[in-house]
Amino acid sequence: MPSLTSLLAVGSLALQTALCLPGLNTFPDHNVKILKRSVDTFVATESPIALNHILCNIGASGACVPGAGSGFVIAGPGQDNPNYFYTWTRDAALVFKCLVDTFIDQYSSSLQILIENYITAQARLQTVQNPSGGLSSGGLGEPKFNADGSAFTGSWGRPQRDGPALRATALITYAKWLVSNGYSSTAKSLVWPVIQNDLSYVSQYWNNTGFDLWEEVSGSSFFTIAAQHRALVEGSALAGQLGTSCTHCDSQAPQALCFLQRFWTSKGYILANINANDGRTAKDANTLLASIHGFDPSIGCDAATFQPCSDRALANHKVVSDSFRSVYSINSGIPGGQAVSVGRYPEDVYYGGNPWYLCSLAAAEQLFDALYTWNKQGFMTITAVSLPFFRDFSASVAIGTFASSSNTYIGLFNAIQTYADGYLVVIENYAQANGSLSEQFSKYDGHPLSAYDLTWSYAAFLTAAARRSGKIPSSWIGPSDSVVPSTCSASSANGPYSVAPTSTFPAGQTPITGTSTATASPTSPPCTIAENVTVTFNEIVTTQFGQTIKIVGDAANMGAWDPTKAVALSASQYTNSNPVWFGTVELGSGILVEYKYINVASDGTVTWEGGSNRVYTPPVGCASTAVVNDVWR
Ligand code: NOJ
Ligand code: NOJ
Repeated sequence: MPSLTSLLAVGSLALQTALCLPGLNTFPDHNVKILKRSVDTFVATESPIALNHILCNIGASGACVPGAGSGFVIAGPGQDNPNYFYTWTRDAALVFKCLVDTFIDQYSSSLQILIENYITAQARLQTVQNPSGGLSSGGLGEPKFNADGSAFTGSWGRPQRDGPALRATALITYAKWLVSNGYSSTAKSLVWPVIQNDLSYVSQYWNNTGFDLWEEVSGSSFFTIAAQHRALVEGSALAGQLGTSCTHCDSQAPQALCFLQRFWTSKGYILANINANDGRTAKDANTLLASIHGFDPSIGCDAATFQPCSDRALANHKVVSDSFRSVYSINSGIPGGQAVSVGRYPEDVYYGGNPWYLCSLAAAEQLFDALYTWNKQGFMTITAVSLPFFRDFSASVAIGTFASSSNTYIGLFNAIQTYADGYLVVIENYAQANGSLSEQFSKYDGHPLSAYDLTWSYAAFLTAAARRSGKIPSSWIGPSDSVVPSTCSASSANGPYSVAPTSTFPAGQTPITGTSTATASPTSPPCTIAENVTVTFNEIVTTQFGQTIKIVGDAANMGAWDPTKAVALSASQYTNSNPVWFGTVELGSGILVEYKYINVASDGTVTWEGGSNRVYTPPVGCASTAVVNDVWR
């Protein structure tokens, strides 16, 4: 069956040719509406699936990653071909940025526990001596760790300097939420120390080369410098809010921004890597990811920070997406201005060089961001730089500024909205039927490839879906932060490093009542995260007549270790071939419990099962039920 996008493509082309009209407004209105409705349906179905998969890949409660330490995001559950059972600082930070934004949008105490666990885990990770160094000797640039938080000592493309910057941004976002809800002391005592180490790393090393986000090229990466600029800017602002300062951030942020300009050249697109002798065109989705990471509608379509609606970022969007039109056969025949499958970079050979879900989603997200800002500011500007991008939607459009009431604006806005939705149709077409997203999909026929259930793919879906529905993360940049110094200097500045505390977060840090931090939004969050889980315990144990199996543990609902308050299980499904006792207990999601089974005789004698206490952490997710299968020991 031809896909919706290809039908639309054929339909609009035919109409265009028949009427001899330029491209503008040639999407018949009803087709646009049908597409929008079908994407609405896909987004509604996929969102809870994506959130559940993310939570399933986070230790220690994530059921998909047994053995992962508390607060560690595992890149993917697969342990061979390829083995992604590690925690990458970059993937984890981008995933938690998404989760923190989800949390800010709708408070959830279980999500809050996960965020706290992530912060504590990062405080620990910062101290782990690894092949890149130690806490104050470059070790924060280590790209990945084993799932239990120990150092990965195999050879790898290291260091990767985007990790500390991205982690700082994820943590700053949560720290700002704490501050605005009256918990500045928590932000200062437990979150800021982790952030401060990362900021010291960034201000010290931003001007050094390192491996890019794809772990292949040693040089200067646009994505890395953009992420570093953002971290320095918002790190300094947070320091001020906490009554301290980050002078090394203040001195280096403008310099990082200055350097960022070097990636823009007269070629009309952003060079993904410079100072790297890699023989590539430098067209790379690195740049799309950088643009969406730095999205902040408060500075409009600013070009210095490569805002998604800036002329540079739009010109680049076209060059990058066009670069994949001829290299993947699944893109063949799809004309400019219609969504294609997007990979890392056209010369890629990893797993044969294929489209990636997260790169195609970044292409969508940049467009949703741009649409949001145009809508907010009420106009759209076309410059000589961005003209080729806009010409894909209207062959006759010219340079100028168009108010939202103009036909030019309306036509372009609708066409670009349809274009953006087209990228989600790509995802829908190539996701597995059950909604699973791996890392890549085949350039020949779209079947999933490489790591399965890639956590980052799901986060990329959720952020694109959130922007589509008008959910925008909190602002990070002030007007003066986008002013480029007139001369750049290759500099560095030292800040403090110290071991961050790993003490428990105070309980009950709920939002200030009456102040909703949620932005008004037309759609609901991916799902309501269950605060409690009704857990069914099945215990296989052969019993004699008159005996009762009970469960007792440290949770209040498990009798707080008092056998007289233990929960009696039922033998109603007990047979000789399947001697099962079962019962349900309501437990807090994400909260670890210790428990044991006891056999209580008719005279009340209690026999405890042997061995050490059993431990179980009810999953955090959309589901409010779970099952545990045990055997008496
Ligand atoms: C593994 C890295 O994660 C991936 O990005 C890279 O392409 C391959 N190694 C090949 O270097
Ligand atoms: C390979 C990707 O190139 C890299 O960006 C990512 O961090 C790892 N896989 C883990 O997902």
